[in-house]
Amino acid sequence: MAERDPHTPPERPSNARPPGVLSVPEALSTPESWLDPFGWYAEMRETEPVHWDADRECWDVFRHADVSAVLSDPETFSSDPRNASNEAFRRASEGVEMETMLGSDPPKHEHLRGVVEEHFRPRAVADLAPRIEEIAEDCLDDVLADGEMDVVADLAYPLPVIVIAELLGIPSEDRETFKRWSDSLVETPTERSEAAAREVEDRRQQTLDELREYFDDLIDQRKRDPGDDLISKVVTAEIEHRPLSAEEMRGFCVLLLVAGNITTTNLLTNAVWTLTEHPETLERLQSEPTLLTKAVEEVLRYRSPVQALGRVATTDTTLGGQTIRQGDVVVLWVGSANRDPDAFERPEEFVVDRTPNQHLAFGRGIHYCLGAPLARLETRLALSALLDSVDDIEAVATADGLTPVRSAFIYGVESFPVRFVAPGSDVRRPPPA
Ligand code: HEM
Repeated sequence: MAERDPHTPPERPSNARPPGVLSVPEALSTPESWLDPFGWYAEMRETEPVHWDADRECWDVFRHADVSAVLSDPETFSSDPRNASNEAFRRASEGVEMETMLGSDPPKHEHLRGVVEEHFRPRAVADLAPRIEEIAEDCLDDVLADGEMDVVADLAYPLPVIVIAELLGIPSEDRETFKRWSDSLVETPTERSEAAAREVEDRRQQTLDELREYFDDLIDQRKRDPGDDLISKVVTAEIEHRPLSAEEMRGFCVLLLVAGNITTTNLLTNAVWTLTEHPETLERLQSEPTLLTKAVEEVLRYRSPVQALGRVATTDTTLGGQTIRQGDVVVLWVGSANRDPDAFERPEEFVVDRTPNQHLAFGRGIHYCLGAPLARLETRLALSALLDSVDDIEAVATADGLTPVRSAFIYGVESFPVRFVAPGSDVRRPPPA
């Protein structure tokens, strides 16, 4: 690809969009493409692994080695969108009135992460196992007698949201509202039109207003009467000998409520989806449950819930032979890196016991997912409860009957109905509809 001439004014984006809405590459402009971006990834890894998209005014990066290099170099590649010269990207963070570790660089990043880090370490998270098992079993008890369930609505959505709501000390009964908020914050337009982009942006603004109101009330209440939950921890914490600002407190609440839900829901659903496509593997897991840990890693690689991450160059640099200018936005296609044949043998196959498995589904480097131990534990325990409770689980819909979640950057489906036989519950699998 020809190098971009820095003196040429950037072309106007043809997919006009209001501020706030992250634009989607043309190859992924329809929901039909969202569940199968892998052909496009393969082509880009081969032909233009570091590609300038003049339409969106950003770089797209597809190879494992390049994605990994960018994530490992926070000095050259900032997580703060305010450093971007691309106005649309910069403005995506404006009006949000939130400061989060996810969007911060050192040293602020360490200060913010340090406030809650100890609660998400593997050992702290392991203490939650009995409660996670109990929630998973409650979810399954509600549906076992039916011989069928929607994996998303009946298990994969409620489980992580109840866990995080309990950690934050907020009522998990509000979870339908949390779902609407989470969905709206990651939503991308389903077509390339200004009207579609505006609709998404309006919903996002409304969500941000509602989030602000909801958490500002909670923050005030916890300041007056702190408990032993995470919100109380955040409102009483100090960084560099000062309390957190209102934006930082809000940022924590929203990040923890949103970051962990939609992603873990999709990991668990993608796991059941993938296993129903591989019935022999499913049977093997029932007799060899210790394999579940590796199976979860392979689902993370094969169907990564987060498909792309963003960074901004802080200085002129080179990547994959291309010159990146200071302020350029770099979109890292984690979903592509995780299918790169230079990093994985037989990358397009689901290999349940793949070892080693250096996937980037939780990122890499200083922003490596804080919730990774929790997400892994929840997914393993939920799968284990499911496999212990039912036999002969099978998908109701074929792959083309699945509806992707409303985001080009999150990989998963809106619902995933399955049928099964529940040995203890006296129910045979219902006949196909
Ligand atoms: C399967 C589930 C999950 C996936 C695939 C996932 C993915 C990711 C990825 C890729 C990043 C790196 C972002 C970047 O480098 O820009 C990240 C960061 C983060 N995740 Fe997760 N996540 C999951 C679950 C969770 C859970 C359960 C929580 C918390 C309850 C959580 C909280 C966070 C936080 C706070 C960060 C920011 C860390 C930092 O900036 O230092 N995530 N996650």
